Amino acid sequence: MNRHQWWRDAVIYQVYVRSFLDSTGDGIGDLAGVRAGLPYLRKLGVDGIWLSPFYPSPQHDHGYDVADYRDVDPVFGDLAEFDLLVSAARRLGIKVLLDIVPNHCSSEHPWFREALAAAPGSPERARFHFADGRGPDGAEPPNNWHAMFGGPAWSRVTEPDGRPGQWYLHMFTPEQPDWNWREPEVAADFDRTLRFWLDRGVDGFRIDVAAGLFKHPELPDSPDPEADARTRDSVNPLAWNQPEVHDVWRHWRAVCEEYTARDGRERLLVGEVSVPTAREHARYVRADELHQAFFFDLLGAPWDADAFRKVISEAMEDIAGTGSTVTWVLNNHDQVRTVTRYGEPAPGGSGLGAARARAAALLMLALPGAAYIYQGEELGLPEVVDLPDEVLTDPIFRRTGSRARIRDGCRVPLPWSGQASPFGFTTGALAKPWLPQPEYFAEYATHRALADTRSSWHLYRDGLHLRAALDQLGDGTLHWLDTQPGVLAFARGDGLVCAVNFTAAPVPAPVAGTPLLASGPCPTGVLPGSTAAWWIDAP
Ligand code: GLC
Repeated sequence: MNRHQWWRDAVIYQVYVRSFLDSTGDGIGDLAGVRAGLPYLRKLGVDGIWLSPFYPSPQHDHGYDVADYRDVDPVFGDLAEFDLLVSAARRLGIKVLLDIVPNHCSSEHPWFREALAAAPGSPERARFHFADGRGPDGAEPPNNWHAMFGGPAWSRVTEPDGRPGQWYLHMFTPEQPDWNWREPEVAADFDRTLRFWLDRGVDGFRIDVAAGLFKHPELPDSPDPEADARTRDSVNPLAWNQPEVHDVWRHWRAVCEEYTARDGRERLLVGEVSVPTAREHARYVRADELHQAFFFDLLGAPWDADAFRKVISEAMEDIAGTGSTVTWVLNNHDQVRTVTRYGEPAPGGSGLGAARARAAALLMLALPGAAYIYQGEELGLPEVVDLPDEVLTDPIFRRTGSRARIRDGCRVPLPWSGQASPFGFTTGALAKPWLPQPEYFAEYATHRALADTRSSWHLYRDGLHLRAALDQLGDGTLHWLDTQPGVLAFARGDGLVCAVNFTAAPVPAPVAGTPLLASGPCPTGVLPGSTAAWWIDAP
């Protein structure tokens, strides 16, 4: 294996900047807060961080609506602070990945404003998808596509002369117009953005909506628009996963390789790729495309041994041979946290969900490949399920109503210390976290977690340190072991065994002797219910 391919088995920590740590007292986390938190992350043992978007943005989708790709929003700091963060991370051996959003920008982006001011058919409009409406007055959208976050995927503009005019495409919210990647200027501008941040020393990019970018050239009607909108993850085959997108990733990979050739530091591209099958997914991580793509099927699997085994086996089969490794993920800023997903959605979580989430984490950290953990996951934070409607900020809630209010509850600012909100997240007499923190966050504060060796934090820390120390973990293959129903066990390399009991009842442990690490109390010879453990099975 190429020793420079550090990403093959890296563990990356996702920092949702606005909820990590606030250094200014405005209730919103910022880049200086991230810098202050680096020693904490170093202690945890992660290889790198991925920073959610911090670019100038009107924040309609918390920064996934970018108004300027090459600057820092004053809410989060400035370029000088960014440079300090990158150098501090470098000193601690922590890689820094940025979140780049190439499918769409903000309706405040200067190029979109220029497009609005320009005439139909102008080069300014060609950078986006502008089209005439249908019906006698052009009052119907150009096609029947739905936006991911509710409503039609098209909005009508008022032309500079005041008359109702053309429509523009937005696969998310109207504040996020989609770029037209068939227009070379768009690609060239993203090149400038990549180089701007690579020149400032970043180690790579997480690519938002990486199966997006190109739309079917004719923008035809979808045969089944209702089905396209049924899940939050894209299934409209006319709007996603077009063949041309692979050329972009080949080009971006070449840009990264150019930087690597200069200094030997390998830059990483990891894509948010939502496609229907593991086989389709594998096409994005061919040797000359993205290094990695999040494999979301594990995140989507219910707490069930057969379901987990099926997605793990498929991933190993389809992604092995591409040159990449599987990129596992259980939590992120768009999903209900595992503690709640695997248990009953009671405020504050349930003991069962917490036990299962810890077991799932140990399973993930034992799988071959890379893993991403989402801030607060290491604390065992549950989803905040009882935020009142008036504090919700997710555009999905705004556009669809409570049916789909799924994303604020995992974005509540982290608790660091103390017994009451703001739990050290922010300071100052008037400081109020941008989303309210529940009282029970006191139990999860990092200070408390570090002091309690039974905490989730210690489980993650021990898991990460063992991954770094043991050759059997990280990159490589796995070998399934026979078990009873409801239990999964697999061997890694030379004698490391991981087993997970998905049932509620204890089962005999697959390996005699004391586990190296277990997600809960684990007497010798027994694997209790909702528990995972690692053993060295000496011959
Ligand atoms: C991705 C991001 C999500 C964002 C969306 C639109 O799915 O993870 O947070 O809302 O793209 O950019």
